[in-house]
Amino acid sequence: MIYLKTDEEIELMRESNLLVGKTLGEMAKWIAPGITTLKLDKIAEEFIRDNGGEPGFLGYAGYPNTLCISVNEVIVHGIPNSYALREGDIVSIDCGVVKNGFNGDSAYTFCVGEVAPEVKQLLKTTKESLYIGIEHAVEGKRIGDVGHAVQTYCEARGYSVVRELCGHGVGKKLHEEPNVPNYGRPGTGPILKNGMCIAIEPMINLGSRNIVIERDGWTTRTRDRKPAAHFEHTVAIKGGKADILSSFEFVEQVLGEKSI
Ligand code: MF3
Ligand code: CO
Repeated sequence: MIYLKTDEEIELMRESNLLVGKTLGEMAKWIAPGITTLKLDKIAEEFIRDNGGEPGFLGYAGYPNTLCISVNEVIVHGIPNSYALREGDIVSIDCGVVKNGFNGDSAYTFCVGEVAPEVKQLLKTTKESLYIGIEHAVEGKRIGDVGHAVQTYCEARGYSVVRELCGHGVGKKLHEEPNVPNYGRPGTGPILKNGMCIAIEPMINLGSRNIVIERDGWTTRTRDRKPAAHFEHTVAIKGGKADILSSFEFVEQVLGEKSI
């Protein structure tokens, strides 16, 4: 069952996602060689609570932390730990917040210092593919149109699309229907309607699309250990159009011209 949100509920979703965007902006200030992913997690948890929210992932299906922090070949669901970031790493920070009973969900992949040009290009293309997908998230189109747009954009540039993990509906629950794959055929899948809120989150690999889930049950990496990128926005279908509820503006304000 797909829950349609009222305009008032969409504004509550916007507030949750605003705090997610600000938290990602805080992360942008701290990401540098030497900081551990657990330290980033603690900073994010404190920031979210100080701003009247609760971590949305902590305790979800037993997940142990506030953020998912996924370095290099880790695609998503990396568990924060004692690993210290190194120059040349890429690090995906996925953040969820619950505020006023509604979830915000957004992710950004950052560079740690100077990163190899081919990896930077992977990040750029993945971020672009998110916005290409969002262009299709309008009333009357279908979920398959969104996935097809992301897939063709990335595959045309030589990258591969992860199949086992998808975007999702989002609202009072972090994961609601529908499933939002980053691949698909145009004109297939559920029809997009006003009031739908979906998280679109391309997970794109430099090498092959195959994944491995580590024995912790969460950490999801590329089988070939080549790098992967992940960007995510929560989007509402409102007034026929895509209304992006989360925001990269706080991140990009901090990164300035270093922004990809
Ligand atoms: N943004 C991710 C997702 O939508 C993060 C979920 S991590 C979990 O699936 F721990 F909350 F499951
Ligand atoms: Co998500």
